[in-house]
Amino acid sequence: MSYRHRPIVDTIPGYRQGKPAPALPGVHSYKVSSNENPFGPLPSVTKAIAEHALERINRYPDMRGWEVVSRIADRYGLAPEQVQLGCGSTEIITQLVSLVAGPGDEVVYPWRSFEAYPIIVAGAGATSVQVPNRPDGSHDVDAMIAAVTDRTRLVILNNPNNPTSASLADEDARRVVAAVPADVIVLFDEAYFQFNTDPDTSVAKDLMHDHPNIVIAHTFSKAYGLAGLRIGYAMGAADVIEGMQKVALPFGVSDVAQQAALASMDVRDELMRRVDDIVVERGRMVAALREQGWTLPEPYGNFFWLELGKRTAEAADRFTAVGLSVRAFPDEGIRISIGERFANDRVLEVCAALRDEGF
Ligand SMILES: Cc1ncc(COP(=O)(O)O)c(C=O)c1O
Repeated sequence: MSYRHRPIVDTIPGYRQGKPAPALPGVHSYKVSSNENPFGPLPSVTKAIAEHALERINRYPDMRGWEVVSRIADRYGLAPEQVQLGCGSTEIITQLVSLVAGPGDEVVYPWRSFEAYPIIVAGAGATSVQVPNRPDGSHDVDAMIAAVTDRTRLVILNNPNNPTSASLADEDARRVVAAVPADVIVLFDEAYFQFNTDPDTSVAKDLMHDHPNIVIAHTFSKAYGLAGLRIGYAMGAADVIEGMQKVALPFGVSDVAQQAALASMDVRDELMRRVDDIVVERGRMVAALREQGWTLPEPYGNFFWLELGKRTAEAADRFTAVGLSVRAFPDEGIRISIGERFANDRVLEVCAALRDEGF
């Protein structure tokens, strides 16, 4: 049907969600395509949801998420007015883009990076300025700085970068922040920061004090394993956060998600031990891959990147054939999440076979 709508919507690339584990008879399949946490929720988290949230589902949630906001503010030494919730950090990024950028405005970000960025920017009617990564998958900060013009309304930094898993050096982050005009927001998307073991990494919170134009996006989806509940948060200057609240999806973050986030913060140490296990497993995989002869950027998220160029689709089929769903970016490469140990072993077997065939 032809209907009147904003032409820019026709330019939006559809989000291609990581595929579910392929169904193969007699094979236990694994999903390593969406950078999820392979561990299910801790018993205390499911208990808290059952005890505090389920009986209230006939009621709207606290729109401001005050209890969660206060806990996060306390933890980071901020005022609650500096914290804002969203339906995952995806909604946080959406709030920020719709606050600062519209038709004629530009949003500068690295590419390839999180595939929601171009969707969110086009959805706001603004223009994406994509700056190609360096060959090692890290942000080309000089090119990003050069891409900033008087039309720029937002600069996004993704640390570690999805899908290349590269870390952003503190020095590089500081250079970007120093170069961007003080009235232009710099968003640090730190969805995977808990997995980042790079000693030289930037930590956006350390820069916030001197640069009130910084907004940080964090999520409960990855290290905290609550991807299905949709809760993330922003930290920034109170007036920016106030603006984000105005454009937020009203009642977006459910009470179930809020209760799960509170319960998860209670068992943070236990959750961080799981993060440590994933990091150890990541190290085991990278060592094995290098042993097999692969060249890959040092991964700092819970995923790694194999650059495969034109042979990406062919390689991706090999994973699917043995019950592994991976995230393929046609003609570029494959992103593989660190999953269950059995899944990881199978990934390594496929990678070894690919090497034997000259990939
Ligand atoms: C870099 C990055 N930012 C943000 C998100 C959004 O996660 P969520 O909306 O679940 O918080 C993702 C999810 O994959 C991501 O990779």
